[in-house]
Amino acid sequence: MVAIDLIIRGATLIDGTGGVPFEADVAVAGDRIAMIGGVPEAVSAREVDARGLVLAPGFIDAHTHDDRAVLEPPAAMACKLSQGVATVIVGNCGVSLSPLLSDRRPVAPLDLLGDERWWRYDSFAAYAKQLAHRPPAVNVLAFVGHISLRARVMGDDLARAADASEIARMRALLEEALEQGAAGFSSGLAYPPARAAPTEELIEIGRPLEKYDGLYVTHMRDEGDGVIDSIEESAAIGRAIGCATVISHHKCALRENFGRSIVTLKLIDTAAKGQQLDFDVYPYAASSTALLLELLRDDLPVRITWSEPVPEAAGRMLDDLAREWGVSLADAARRLQPAGAVYFSMDEVDVQRILAHPAAMVGSDGLPHDERPHPRLWGTFPRVLGHYARDLGLFPLETAVHKMTGLTAKIFGLRDRGVIREGAFADLVLFDPGTIIDRATFDDPARRSDGIVELWVNGRTAWRYDGGPSPEGTGRLLRRYPAV
Ligand code: CU
Ligand code: ZN
Repeated sequence: MVAIDLIIRGATLIDGTGGVPFEADVAVAGDRIAMIGGVPEAVSAREVDARGLVLAPGFIDAHTHDDRAVLEPPAAMACKLSQGVATVIVGNCGVSLSPLLSDRRPVAPLDLLGDERWWRYDSFAAYAKQLAHRPPAVNVLAFVGHISLRARVMGDDLARAADASEIARMRALLEEALEQGAAGFSSGLAYPPARAAPTEELIEIGRPLEKYDGLYVTHMRDEGDGVIDSIEESAAIGRAIGCATVISHHKCALRENFGRSIVTLKLIDTAAKGQQLDFDVYPYAASSTALLLELLRDDLPVRITWSEPVPEAAGRMLDDLAREWGVSLADAARRLQPAGAVYFSMDEVDVQRILAHPAAMVGSDGLPHDERPHPRLWGTFPRVLGHYARDLGLFPLETAVHKMTGLTAKIFGLRDRGVIREGAFADLVLFDPGTIIDRATFDDPARRSDGIVELWVNGRTAWRYDGGPSPEGTGRLLRRYPAV
């Protein structure tokens, strides 16, 4: 028999499959789950009395911008560790740290990952090497972003479609990254540096995804009036390439589109009958990204999350600042650039309808380097478990867990993760189902959630409620293994 290192006794297991909870002991040997059931005593093992608590697979954050945070010491990932997150998907919305070198602050939204100091990885292999050299706090699955590729190949000339030779170079860079372990290709077609790219550009760059079984993940061109066309475009790109596709942070933005999730979800369901098409969602009715002038409207409340020239604006409402300064919203926004913002642009009914859809995965879309971040950075997972599942009864707790573990692992191809079973990796989270809840708010956004007791990543303690993050990284860079 293998040497047992850890025994978690008497927890209620929610195993990530969506199946009914059951009580059992779990034994961990090395980085794997060795045994489930009545585990005999083992002399050298640490014993954890987990009666009254839930043991679930460590959560998988389906959508993050943690590309840089995972390169920093584990404390930089406290926002996720404290929620029970064991794995993050990075490189989303067309924005990835590799393959791009830059000695100046890159164009928004690339700069949400950092200023000129952070663009040092001219290949995916260089980024992967850094993660191997200093293991990240959590596991990482990484995408290569369309905007990063454009900035690399087209420089500052981004307000146009790429020509044939530029497309060929971007395709070659993507293929190289896939060869080196990237999980796929992401786009952020709503953003100015990508908006001029026609559908055909995405398809032609994305061709290597078919050969490598890579995923296409997309922050769509339009999440407001044009959301239907955008879903059709996303599905068409996936079909043309012949790859699985994930729609990022699905929403129906702006007042005139409230309620349209009935139609969008139906459209996704229909398309998904003929191709692999999935989506993630964060559990809040407000979005957050760079402060973009074209997003401003009189009826859209906007809160500043950071501003380079006016740091004290972080946390303030844009209209208050405009009034104080005696200028228009647009002029106030210009004065704050570069800057980030929260946009209160959604309807809670849509958020709940999307979240409750059986195919919906949970992803935070948190922005870890913002001065006053959207509370999704610190609160997403406990909010789904505590607020939406337990308090509102939107779905059973095991369904909530499935949306952040087994379902996500299946779609992103994370082999032996996202489930509690013998032989699977010991990514495990212990939490109190009675008290788990998010504490981060728009007014006080960096507050740690309640109810997460301990998190193990690859069999080792990554975070404890009464001890914080472990000083050494317990995660690793993962590869995608698509289901056959
Ligand atoms: Cu994003
Ligand atoms: Zn996005």
